[in-house]
Amino acid sequence: MIRLGVNIDHVATVRQARKDREPDPVAAAVLALLGGADGITVHLREDRRHIQDRDLHLLKQVVPNLLNLELAVAPEILAIAIQVKPDQATLVPERRQEVTTEGGLDVVGQREAVRSTVEELKSVGIAVALFIDADEMQVLASKDVGAEAIEFHTGQYAEAKTRRARADQVELLRRAADLARVQGLHVHMGHGLTYDNVGDIARIPGVEELNIGFSIVSRSIMLGMERAVRDMKDAIRQALAR
Ligand code: PXP
Repeated sequence: MIRLGVNIDHVATVRQARKDREPDPVAAAVLALLGGADGITVHLREDRRHIQDRDLHLLKQVVPNLLNLELAVAPEILAIAIQVKPDQATLVPERRQEVTTEGGLDVVGQREAVRSTVEELKSVGIAVALFIDADEMQVLASKDVGAEAIEFHTGQYAEAKTRRARADQVELLRRAADLARVQGLHVHMGHGLTYDNVGDIARIPGVEELNIGFSIVSRSIMLGMERAVRDMKDAIRQALAR
């Protein structure tokens, strides 16, 4: 069975819209685990737009199975990772202006910086994955710098508009996953996966882990809306009855 890592960044996005205490991503993590999540994924961005340092520290205490920290190749975040010691770290590219992670990490173009980051993480017992595009050179460079796993970026697959374009992207991912496996790398995938499009990715041979966030957080808001409004009506009704 494929592991599902639930990315809860966007619970924190809602909280940060008010810089309030709710909704708490740590509470969401506990509920996701009750729902069967095999792990929790968070991205501690340098601009702290959603997940905060406090969240990461608490998640380390409450996530019993697999805490996966996405981080940029950045000294400040690396130091936090080494201190907190999540089970797994996934190195991702990061640009301030982007709405979400736009492309894979360029391992080829910054080989030595990635290598030393991978080494530092591994030296304290953190398993390391690299988030890359389905590109042969990036897979080989990932192996070369000592990564143990690759998370393939499925964003282009998710954005493909036609059935043909989607099939082409699946084929690209399948070939890259085969190469990664031959190199002895674990294969993860993620970004832009939804209830409708996850099937083709889950069926790619050798996929061990999927990291999915936005679609799950979106659905959880919708499934909870009716109940949340009913509870507020009850609270008002009860106040008037007193
Ligand atoms: N995997 C990685 C490396 C990511 O950066 C993200 C987005 O933070 C995800 C998975 C989850 O993507 P989505 O929120 O689109 O499901």
